[in-house]
Amino acid sequence: MLEIKNLTKSYGDVVALDRFSLDLKKGEVLGLLGPNGAGKTTLISILAGTLRDFTGTVTFEGRNLFSDRTLKNRIGIVPQDMAFYDDLNAMDNLLFWGGLYDVPRADLKRRAVEILDLVELAGRAKEPVKNFSGGMKRRLNTAIGLLHKPDLLLLDEPTVGIDVQAKVSILDIIRNVGAAGTAVIFTTHQLAEVETTCSRIAIMDHGRILAQGTFDELIRIVGERDIVEIAGDFAAGAFSEALRDMAGADVELLSVADNLASLAVSDSGRIPRVMDRLFQNKLAVTDLKIQTPGLETVFLKLTGRSLRD
Ligand SMILES: Nc1ncnc2c1ncn2[C@@H]1O[C@H](COP(=O)(O)OP(=O)(O)O)[C@@H](O)[C@H]1O
Ligand SMILES: [Mg+2]
Repeated sequence: MLEIKNLTKSYGDVVALDRFSLDLKKGEVLGLLGPNGAGKTTLISILAGTLRDFTGTVTFEGRNLFSDRTLKNRIGIVPQDMAFYDDLNAMDNLLFWGGLYDVPRADLKRRAVEILDLVELAGRAKEPVKNFSGGMKRRLNTAIGLLHKPDLLLLDEPTVGIDVQAKVSILDIIRNVGAAGTAVIFTTHQLAEVETTCSRIAIMDHGRILAQGTFDELIRIVGERDIVEIAGDFAAGAFSEALRDMAGADVELLSVADNLASLAVSDSGRIPRVMDRLFQNKLAVTDLKIQTPGLETVFLKLTGRSLRD
């Protein structure tokens, strides 16, 4: 239903989106995973119509998203920064925003009650929003995006800065909305969220998608290998040099920084040989962790850096 082709957007010399392309089908919940600065907010802002001066095309059911004004009411936006009035109560905020989205007046009140119930704010509808906790504000922000029953919901980092319980509840809402047939794109820089919430995951960095697929498909990028994380007192260059002639299909250097490196090994029998080599080169190892591949590993392999950076 949504087709994004070659979206490119620069801020001066900074290329925030670099020929970004993506397709989305009805009912899909797509998690767009990328570190800070990857271009997530730029993408959502362009789709929301709040950012201009870009190139590329976006069609929604075959129609140009930016010129067909009837499409505005089919899309719900939950921006990274909260979009509501602090002095109004939750209900009045919904009534205000519903008006902007052309929700028929007769339906608006009923729909607002329904949506407050869905985001578990029904009991707090008459309270000024400034009294709300961070989690409640995020839920209200999400409710505003859902008020007009969009066919496509875009959420930009909807779980930033809230406690675990509020996070779970936002992710539940996203899953339920997707199950009810709404297509969803939500951006995040947190791995665990996309693992549990999405039907498809896209990993982006530097304004482009590096890989996409289901969780299992993405894991196959690193294959059935063990991941070895080695910490110690070493320089990145000396570490790479020590393992240089070993590196290949059986021992792959995923990322090497000063004092911390990650390798993928085809079988754990390779690990003693790696350690021997480091020892011969007088590189001090203080910690060794062996893991099975997860999304973090996929991310490391694709970007050469950790999402935690
Ligand atoms: N208004 C702006 N002016 C200049 N540079 C910007 C602006 N907004 C974003 N950028 C830059 O564009 C890149 C992508 O930013 P953004 O889309 O906010 O990424 P994300 O949401 O993934 O953190 C970053 O390098 C950021 O510094
Ligand atoms: Mg952002």
